Amino acid sequence: MPSKHATETARRRTFAIISHPDAGKTTVTEKLLLYGGAIQLAGTVKGRKAARHATSDWMELEKERGISVTSSVMQFPYKDCIVNLLDTPGHQDFSEDTYRTLTAVDSALMVIDVAKGVEERTIKLMEVCRLRDTPIMTFINKLDREGREPIDLLDEVERVLGIACAPVTWPIGMGKRFKGVYHLARDAVHLFSPTHGGKVQQGEIIQGLDNPRLDEVLGTQAAELREELELVMGASHSFDAEAYLAGQQTPVFFGSAINNFGIQELLDDFVVYAPAPRSRATQSREILPAEESFSGFVFKIQANMDPQHRDRIAFMRICSGTFRKGAKLRHVRIARDVRIADALTFMASEREHAEEAYPGDIIGLHNHGTIRIGDTFTEGEALAFTGIPNFAPELFRRAQLRDPLKMKQLQKGLQQLCEEGATQLFKPLTNNDLILGAVGILQFDVVAHRLRHEYNVDASFETVNVQTARWVSCADERKLEEFREKAAANLSIDHGGDLVYIAPTRVNLQMAQERWPEITFSATREHG
Ligand code: G4P
Repeated sequence: MPSKHATETARRRTFAIISHPDAGKTTVTEKLLLYGGAIQLAGTVKGRKAARHATSDWMELEKERGISVTSSVMQFPYKDCIVNLLDTPGHQDFSEDTYRTLTAVDSALMVIDVAKGVEERTIKLMEVCRLRDTPIMTFINKLDREGREPIDLLDEVERVLGIACAPVTWPIGMGKRFKGVYHLARDAVHLFSPTHGGKVQQGEIIQGLDNPRLDEVLGTQAAELREELELVMGASHSFDAEAYLAGQQTPVFFGSAINNFGIQELLDDFVVYAPAPRSRATQSREILPAEESFSGFVFKIQANMDPQHRDRIAFMRICSGTFRKGAKLRHVRIARDVRIADALTFMASEREHAEEAYPGDIIGLHNHGTIRIGDTFTEGEALAFTGIPNFAPELFRRAQLRDPLKMKQLQKGLQQLCEEGATQLFKPLTNNDLILGAVGILQFDVVAHRLRHEYNVDASFETVNVQTARWVSCADERKLEEFREKAAANLSIDHGGDLVYIAPTRVNLQMAQERWPEITFSATREHG
């Protein structure tokens, strides 16, 4: 008989949704929770957002800007599986966060708007998925509206994203003529009914494409469907589970998330075909989820999730072994053992204390400043998971304080917010500036807002003469020391304590690189 560890691991499905803003990611998430039984009535995710909004000003900013800046984790059971859905921020300024979240999943769901097709953000996210051959399912959304021809959309996905498409369901009409979907493998039509009252959509199921009942309810659309399907089956790939798992083919589903339609088909096939936890690379060896010894890595840190507790949570993806409450784990980077008494799990409805967790699960650790993004925890082995980078920021601003007496709070606030990884803090060696680096301009607003509301510090960000940054290292200690002395005016220490070259111009950087060939200038920093 398989061990509990093996059984629990095999039923985990850990994934994220990738999409262009507005395609319907939030709505699909909500409907997955509805079908997963985690919520009873659709409308609650937005409702919850509103409720939280009352207690968190950060959410207020989200609402003002119409963007989602938090990444949360939701766990819910579906059939025999435990599904972990990792939410990713949709706005492009937070793409690093999304990037790192995608390192913690085993598969992804791509949501596409039927009227808009493949959009720019989808292309970028797909590139990230491709780096690790992440298996991808596709949901084409908003079939209750007029959109592009389904066959053209599949063609576009294949052409633009370079992945073969295998339709699993096929839509019957769209917009006002949208009647439902046909499941190719099950040879069954699921009829659409636009009234659902926020509840799970039941709708009639008609077995068999030749069933006369189909002509009865669809009229002329039944013949159209049969004709179209003949064409589709001739022209497209049939679903191949292996090609899907290798990231070479995406099964495609159609539906209307807002109407709870097409989600059930998606979820039913998702739990069957989506991969259970996969193995992960470390600097020394491959870690298999079946290994009994515990290992996991931190892919995200979030400060002040609950403003009443002013906590900082490190999100850890479990890669092997079983986590048990009170476990003693090795924090590899700082070579220290810590007892984890109060890790959190993220059930869809609330945060709860974790008693046990398995590969694929995400647990939240309380962070008091010692945990960084990319950190590995094990039961003793000195492992380091790879592929969780920080990128060199492209925008820089100097923090300017309105009240000089608040310097301590400012430093603390910046330090803690930068641990989250969306922004990075640089302290020059030769002056007392606090320079913030980010990939997107909106992040400065977010930091200013959060400093005000979470740390009671009024700060603004002014332009500073820095154009780019590189982490520096050198195998030769003496050479590094010499560089540190000679180039001190351009050097700074980041919030993780690493040495960084901050260049006023790209030409300056280039000259420094030519002058110091022994020094490595890196545009990414692995391990937080
Ligand atoms: P996002 O997280 O990907 O940004 O998308 P979100 O779910 O917020 O959906 C974006 C808009 O598309 C929302 O409308 C949402 O109601 C709508 N939408 C989602 N699924 C469907 C669908 O199946 N059919 C149709 N017709 N619309 C859909 P909104 O007006 O921006 O917001 P709201 O006022 O409805 O909340």
